[in-house]
Amino acid sequence: MAEKKKIGSSKATAGVKKVALLGFGTVGSSVAELMQMRKLPGIELGYVFNRNVAGKLAGKAAQRVPASVEWTEKIEDVLGSDADIIVELMGGIDPAGKWIRRALASGKSVVTANKQLIAYEGASLLRLAAKNGAHLLYGAAVAGGVPVIPGVLQGLSGDSLKRVSGILNGTCNFILSQMETGADYAEVLAEAQRLGYAEADPTADVDGFDARAKLVILTRIALGAEINPDAVAAESIRRIAAIDFSYTREMGCTIRQISRAEIDGAVVRARVAPMVVPRSLAIAGSHGTLNTVVTNGRFGGDVVFSGHGAGGRPTAVAVVSDILAAAQGSGQVALPVRKRQVTGEMVAPHYLRFVVNDKPGIVSGIAGILAKHKINLDSILQRQGYPKERLPFIATVEPCLNTTLKKVVAAIGRMDSMLEAPLCLQILPVEDKDV
Ligand SMILES: NC(=O)c1ccc[n+]([C@@H]2O[C@H](COP(=O)([O-])OP(=O)(O)OC[C@H]3O[C@@H](n4cnc5c(N)ncnc54)[C@H](OP(=O)(O)O)[C@@H]3O)[C@@H](O)[C@H]2O)c1
Repeated sequence: MAEKKKIGSSKATAGVKKVALLGFGTVGSSVAELMQMRKLPGIELGYVFNRNVAGKLAGKAAQRVPASVEWTEKIEDVLGSDADIIVELMGGIDPAGKWIRRALASGKSVVTANKQLIAYEGASLLRLAAKNGAHLLYGAAVAGGVPVIPGVLQGLSGDSLKRVSGILNGTCNFILSQMETGADYAEVLAEAQRLGYAEADPTADVDGFDARAKLVILTRIALGAEINPDAVAAESIRRIAAIDFSYTREMGCTIRQISRAEIDGAVVRARVAPMVVPRSLAIAGSHGTLNTVVTNGRFGGDVVFSGHGAGGRPTAVAVVSDILAAAQGSGQVALPVRKRQVTGEMVAPHYLRFVVNDKPGIVSGIAGILAKHKINLDSILQRQGYPKERLPFIATVEPCLNTTLKKVVAAIGRMDSMLEAPLCLQILPVEDKDV
């Protein structure tokens, strides 16, 4: 078992930046391991704060932490210490936000992977950091180990980005790419939970809230727009079924959870939802827990970032890179940010899936309702081999406003023969070069 060292017993080495970890879980322990492995010059892990330190010290991960490190369950021991850089890896808004504010107010730099906190409070935390001559870095908060945030801030700040989109949640990507093989949602979710890719309560991932927080952060740094996370539409992947993959395959497409934001005049059009993705787009080849982000700039066109969006070790790489930047005094590039209204309205072609008790007149009934609202049917696809009493078939419609279509589809769902609410998915256009 590793030993607990007395707080305040270690001496600061001249010129060395001391790091304090708040949270010794999946990412925190990997950060400690990576720091130990890399032996970064001028940086030293000084403190680890976590509840139940005895339990942590009894675990394997603590064995890889140098004996000089001081462990504590009291946050005051860390916030009042000589630590130069506080690395918050506990998660959640409170108390993490409160403690980060105290650290920044006292001039300490902060590195965090906390996407919810940065989505909701990032702008004010950055102001607090600047006011106190400290740095706040959060490269691991979006796409884990994929350097999207530093890539956009350092490498693309010269462009004028107008759109950012892609796959921001590895759990959903794992589930949907596994379902391509014909497996059911519940079956693949159970496998994802067994493999540690999905939480026991998968709500934040499958209902889009995790991806939404990341999209809000990306919108701020890439599009210079501050939007309210709660105003961004997030749709669940729970209703996607194996049959949808079989139909979209026939269309030359697949299904992915897509997060997408673009500047349109004074507003930002943004949403997170499962969408039908043509196979010719690079993003359709993103399998397993991979994250892929594509930015689209007025001058430089498309730039693609792809890699491991989660997991202790890939995420630790992003955190340690931020620690190095903070230690060298290089914070993030600060670009002007404006508050903007956000809307989920988008004009796009759509995929509709119906499950009906088959009777004559269903297709003409659907076509009639669509036509009444000036929505053009594009195609109808019905595979053989399903019972007439529970017949799934699909239709595609030409580009129309998604919010109007939603209301029309709800009306179609009230037809007598409909056995369940129709599924309605946006189809990404083939020429959509950004994804
Ligand atoms: N895991 C990933 O792949 C990943 C990827 C990107 C970003 N992130 C972000 O990184 C952060 C950490 O994630 P994680 O997966 O490492 O979480 P985790 O495994 O649950 O680790 C969190 C650690 O913080 C401790 N902790 C939490 N609240 C605390 C409190 N109030 N007081 C004291 N200790 C507390 C926990 O202690 P107990 O063990 O006692 O609960 C645990 O050791 C989160 O913000 C997450 O969103 C994670």
